[in-house]
Amino acid sequence: MSSLHFSSHAIPLRIPNYCCFKLDSYSEIEYESYKVALLKKGIVLICLGFSDDSAEIMKDIVNTIGLIHEHDALGRTVWDVKIGGETGEEALAISHSDREFSLHNDGAFEQEMPGYFGLHVVRADTLGGGENILVCADRIVESLTEETFQLLSSRKFKLRVPEEFRKVSNFIEASLIDESHGFRYRYDIIERDLCSPEELEALNELELKISLPHNMFKVHLGNNQILLLDNRRYLHARTRIKDKKRHLKRIRFNMPATLRVA
Ligand SMILES: [Fe+2]
Repeated sequence: MSSLHFSSHAIPLRIPNYCCFKLDSYSEIEYESYKVALLKKGIVLICLGFSDDSAEIMKDIVNTIGLIHEHDALGRTVWDVKIGGETGEEALAISHSDREFSLHNDGAFEQEMPGYFGLHVVRADTLGGGENILVCADRIVESLTEETFQLLSSRKFKLRVPEEFRKVSNFIEASLIDESHGFRYRYDIIERDLCSPEELEALNELELKISLPHNMFKVHLGNNQILLLDNRRYLHARTRIKDKKRHLKRIRFNMPATLRVA
């Protein structure tokens, strides 16, 4: 069963006011406030009062509050999420197809998983597809049985690096819940054939919990909106794209856990 099977019943996410911003000009950027909101709640939503199709604002914010994480072997830091990718022919990655992308953490197969990511909506899906679904790791951790939580926190799982992101090795080994109770998960990269029965049972429990509609939140984004998200505190997913012209700009970054912007 797809983890997004019940996503149409997902609850709209209530984002605190201190995480929501309106930006009408470049001079109004509130770097420190974005950083505080990200550290406190793991989410920032910025509504631009103008278009910024090359995502210069998002790149500037991320450059100021954190360290940009390189996306791929081509050295891109900001990249396009649209059908076919930047060149129109990058259909290999799920994000560049119109397919549903089930719940995951970005770069779950990377030894140094990106701590945060940002997306800028150049053009939203006008046909109701491509909805963003979030699952809060804290909520799931609290609902797991003690046995499953302990196993997922301590046991190393073999995770396959998808072909399109392969640089050095084909696999990494890592636990699925880290010491801060953040997640490292993507359904299709877990080498299940190598899992013991108890590991499979723990995975089943996790996957059941994250697929329950009362644990899923939806965030509707319109044109010229920027979402910054803690990649470990939230699993994210995207429903199937219906509008072939849907276009996002994406970036990944890390951020030191201090409240002062350099
Ligand atoms: Fe993603």
